[in-house]
This record gives sequence, structure tokens and C-alpha cells, in this order.
Amino acid sequence: MVQTVTPWEVKGEIDYKRLITEFGTKEINPTIKDKIEELAGGSHVLLRRNFFFSHRDLNLVLRDYEEKKGFFLYTGRGPSGPMHIGHIVPLLFTKWLQEKFGVNLYIQITDDEKFLLKRERSWEKIEKDSKSNILDICALGFDPDKTFVFRNSEYIKKIYPMFLEISRRITYSTVKSVFGFVNESNVGMISFPAIQMVPTFFEKKRCLIPSAIDQDPYWRVQRDIAETIGYQKAAAIHSRFLPPLTSPQGKMSASSEESAVWLNDDEKTVKQKVMKYAFSGGRETVEEHRRRGGRPEVDVSFQWLKIIFEENDNKISSISEDYKKGKMLTGELKEILVEKINSFLGNHRKNKEKVDVDKFMYKGKLAKNMWEKEFEIS
Ligand code: TRP
Repeated sequence: MVQTVTPWEVKGEIDYKRLITEFGTKEINPTIKDKIEELAGGSHVLLRRNFFFSHRDLNLVLRDYEEKKGFFLYTGRGPSGPMHIGHIVPLLFTKWLQEKFGVNLYIQITDDEKFLLKRERSWEKIEKDSKSNILDICALGFDPDKTFVFRNSEYIKKIYPMFLEISRRITYSTVKSVFGFVNESNVGMISFPAIQMVPTFFEKKRCLIPSAIDQDPYWRVQRDIAETIGYQKAAAIHSRFLPPLTSPQGKMSASSEESAVWLNDDEKTVKQKVMKYAFSGGRETVEEHRRRGGRPEVDVSFQWLKIIFEENDNKISSISEDYKKGKMLTGELKEILVEKINSFLGNHRKNKEKVDVDKFMYKGKLAKNMWEKEFEIS
């Protein structure tokens, strides 16, 4: 089976168990899941239904929390275009973690990375995407006093000293083997990994990174050097990829319109897309469906409901049962999903109108503390 998972390319059918072995991470087992839920005083659908499935040192993060040493959160977004549902799934879980554990969160916008990655991409486009992505992210409802969102191109002066500490400890041969750089890779990209590692050192506490598993290679390298700079190894909690509408496997891609639901899709568009493109586990004819039943395991509408949109455990199992028995038709299942997505997007549109982005960026409370506190160079 062909499978490619790197920060810049996700291809083929993804075998998540195999990724755990290849990346050297740990599976989220029932014990650690119970522990998070106990400390958080609640559970989150993305954890309960195993969308977050793998981790590094999560047990140590929870121990630090119990011992009152605390921890902080870090995640990010590469502004390569408008955002779709798949992009915000890990951010919604990050928001829950922030709420439940009351911790600081740093969100890095890698405008530099997206500029370096593709020569045909103009800076004007990146400016535009950065602004709209930041608005979408801030509208998700993070705590403005505990969240700092920054664009690398603007914040570089503060990042640079730590970038130097990091980059002089990483060899070309390391990034070449971890990220697959080749002779044709540009030198900006070759040093970029050090920039993505900087925020893991924003505080002296342990850093927990919630993100999709494709970003793990950065943390692997960070963990090799962190202690030599006097910091702690980053911890991570990894999600799977939200399957594209068009297939039960793989990753939703920004380059194919019909495979994704965008945050700015209107109600009619959402309905048309789901009805037309959502891969169905239903049967050829109504008659056959009634007789043999549908297959929720391959049905993308069901998967989306299960992963994030239907939080109620009783409801999701009755949908699954009805679909399997042929009592529920694909069209009915799709209706449920359309309604859930549209209610989420409706709220999101309202939040975008209200949110004050400045509160999260350089004028926010957390940012002010950071401006005062210079990074020290050894
Ligand atoms: N490189 C990521 C992307 O292309 C953005 C990013 C920066 C990020 N820092 C991160 C993602 C930390 C997850 C965690 O989207």
C-alpha cells in the first residue's frame, strides 16, 4: 500500500497504526484517555471517537498539570488559501484543551513557509489568505487573554534569536532525512523547520502541540535538541485527517473544490456539495438499500457526523443502526449532515462579525507580556 505523509504532502490510503510505528509515537490508549477526561472534567467528541489517536509525552503533560507545574499549547496554520472544515477540526480540540486546562496558547501563521514553498504564489495572495485565515481562527472562540496569534513575517524579530539557537544545532543531513529535502529544495525551506520549532520554546514549561499527524516530523527534531538549549522536549497530540467528501480515505485537499466544505460556503453550496459529492455507503437502489442496508463505515457523511458534527452518542449510534438496517436512506443521512454543517457555519459567520482580531495579535494581553520578555541567547 502506497502511503506518503509529510508536512507538505499527504497521499494514498492512510494506515494510522503504521504511522504510529513509523513515526515512533504512542497510541492514545483508554488509560490516558480516561486521565485527560478526569483532569478536564469532561470529554470531547474528537477524543471520545478516537479522531485524536496518537501522542508524544501526553502522560508527562498531564503529570505536570497535576503537579501544578502547568504547560502551554502551541499550534499553527499555513495560509495557503481559504480554510475548510478539515483545517479547523484540530483547532476546535485545541480550544477545548485551553478551556478545560486554562492554559496559554500560541498560534503561528507560517506566511513565510507558504511563500517559500511555491514559486508561483505571490506575496499579495499570502497577505490576503493570512488575513482571512486569522479572522477565521480568532472567530473560533479562543480566550483572548490567553491566546497569541502571530504571523512569522511580522514577528520575526522576536523569533530570530531563538531561530539562531535552534538552527545552529540542526544539520542539513538531519532535515534532509526527516523532511525529504533534495538538491533542488530552496535554502529557505531547508531552514524553515527551525522557525516552526521556535514557539515550542515560548515558555519554560512543557509545550503540548495539538495538530494533524503530518506535522510530527518537526517535533521529532525539536525533541533531539530541546534539552541542549535548556528547554523541554515538546509533547504532541495527533489527529487523523478529515476524509474528503469524495472518498472515505485520505485527506481533504485544498486543490479540489468538490472534496472540501469551505468556511465561507453558503447554505445552498453546502447542500449541493454534500448531496452531489459526499461518498455514499448506500446501495444502488432504494429497494436494495432497504433490503441489505447501508455501510456507515465507508459513508463520508456518516464519518463526518461521527468525527465531529453529531456529538450526542445515543444519536450517532441510532443513526448508525438505522442506516445499517436500511431504515435510513443516504439522502436522509445527508440531510442531517447538511443541517449540522450549516448551523455550524451560520454561527461561525456571526462570530466573524463580532470578533476583535487585535485582541489576539500584537495588542493582546499575552502578546504584551511577550514583548516585555526578551528571549535570552546563551
Ligand atoms: N506548517 C503548518 C501548516 O502548513 C503550520 C504550523 C506552524 C503548525 N506551526 C504549527 C501546525 C504547529 C501545527 C502545529 O499548516
